[in-house]
Amino acid sequence: PLQLTLALLKPDAVAHPLVREAVHAAILRHRFLIVRAKELRCGAEQSRRFYREHAGRFFYRRLVEFMASGPMWAYILAHENAVPLWRSVMGPTKVFRARHSHPDSIRGAYGLTDTRNTTHGSDSPASASREIAFFFPEFDKRRWYEQD
Ligand code: CMP
Repeated sequence: PLQLTLALLKPDAVAHPLVREAVHAAILRHRFLIVRAKELRCGAEQSRRFYREHAGRFFYRRLVEFMASGPMWAYILAHENAVPLWRSVMGPTKVFRARHSHPDSIRGAYGLTDTRNTTHGSDSPASASREIAFFFPEFDKRRWYEQD
């Protein structure tokens, strides 16, 4: 069965045409189905809410400011095991680990820092539902499955 996940192309990736293209190519190469895609810009408040589970971490403020610093792309992606698959395509959060242990992943190839790490992906099916509702409030998962 198809699983859905939320992917974000963060401002560092959107700002760089080659990185943007490479992420898009990775989505297609791994045969994700692009269910919805839109360009958006997060305000500081929306970005604080999106990452509220990280409130209090040393990088929270930096993260929130970065996510509000420019346009992003949000995608709903479908695939068998889309959640873990997209996370493995992205590679590890930390840029050092990504560069050294997963050089072919998106973050390994294009991540700039632990914060400016090109992409986001939901970490569980429950997070995916929450995050999809956050960025695509009009999206009706049940209807989408039925139409399929
Ligand atoms: P993401 O997968 O979007 O989820 C939380 C984000 O917080 C993460 O990617 C990074 O952008 C950021 N982040 C996580 N850990 C660190 C860290 N140690 N230092 C700075 N930013 C971090």
